[in-house]
Amino acid sequence: MFEEAQYFAPVATGEDGSVVVQLATSHPGFADSAYRERRNAIAALALNHVPGEPIPAVEYTAEEHQVWVLVARELAIKHRTYAATEYLRGCERLGLPKDRIPQLQEVGDLLAPLTGFRYLPAAGLVPLREFYGVLADGLFHSTQYIRHHSVPFYTPEPDVVHEVIGHANALASDRFARLYRLAGNAARRVETTEALEFVSKVFWFTLEFGVLAEDGVDKAYGAGILSSYGEIEEFRGMDILPLDLTVMGTTTYDITKYQDVLFRAESLDHLEDVVGAFWDTCDDDTIARMVAEGAGARSSV
Ligand code: TRP
Ligand code: FE
Repeated sequence: MFEEAQYFAPVATGEDGSVVVQLATSHPGFADSAYRERRNAIAALALNHVPGEPIPAVEYTAEEHQVWVLVARELAIKHRTYAATEYLRGCERLGLPKDRIPQLQEVGDLLAPLTGFRYLPAAGLVPLREFYGVLADGLFHSTQYIRHHSVPFYTPEPDVVHEVIGHANALASDRFARLYRLAGNAARRVETTEALEFVSKVFWFTLEFGVLAEDGVDKAYGAGILSSYGEIEEFRGMDILPLDLTVMGTTTYDITKYQDVLFRAESLDHLEDVVGAFWDTCDDDTIARMVAEGAGARSSV
């Protein structure tokens, strides 16, 4: 099974309409009944969203807002040192609140005038084809819950901090937003599961965990590095390989820990030339050839 299924807690809907998010025993919020209630209520809200209608607002608790305040503050400090310049420009253009969790509706209202992107609420795992496909329409599926307060520096489960601080700031950049849309076009163009997974792995190693060189220094532009103030301190010490589509598309990864294999673009132009052009033109046949070529590629797990 594709790796991504593991980190989204399954959402079960009872016959009475109750919604239960099934947290793993290893989840930091597993034994916290108040946290579990919040997760259930927030998932129910997303399930009730009617496409085209405004996104239901979550009434976050004071404790939840506090987690955002803490993480946003820590990340802003780390970003000055570790984030790619184009991402920092996105942060300036977007102007996210620092003192509270923004609503997804609000994130879309800030983004749409910049790059046309809007957010959609997701209760749990969105199928790959749907998640990536709608990027082509300028839509981004996002969780609304926030990580557990006991482990603010990293979560193995994407939360609103990751979706908004990691992705929305990038989506506020015209250049990154174009790459997201191209990934969406690619996901819609390919037909085989193998090709779709290849496209999503290239996304993983670039827009989620990509690094680019600026004046010889590695800077992060991947949302997964940029939303974790634990991981962001470590990425420069990881195994950073040259940008290579075949290797990215055939390397496996473990989503539950800091990524130890990363790929470096030599510049944003380089990223666009290699990855943008790939998403813009790839099809089942070109990808099948790359998979054959990459058979036996290294594994990161
Ligand atoms: N680890 C990220 C953080 O702490 C969030 C995250 C969880 C994530 N799963 C992911 C990011 C998968 C990218 C891809 O903010
Ligand atoms: Fe992500």
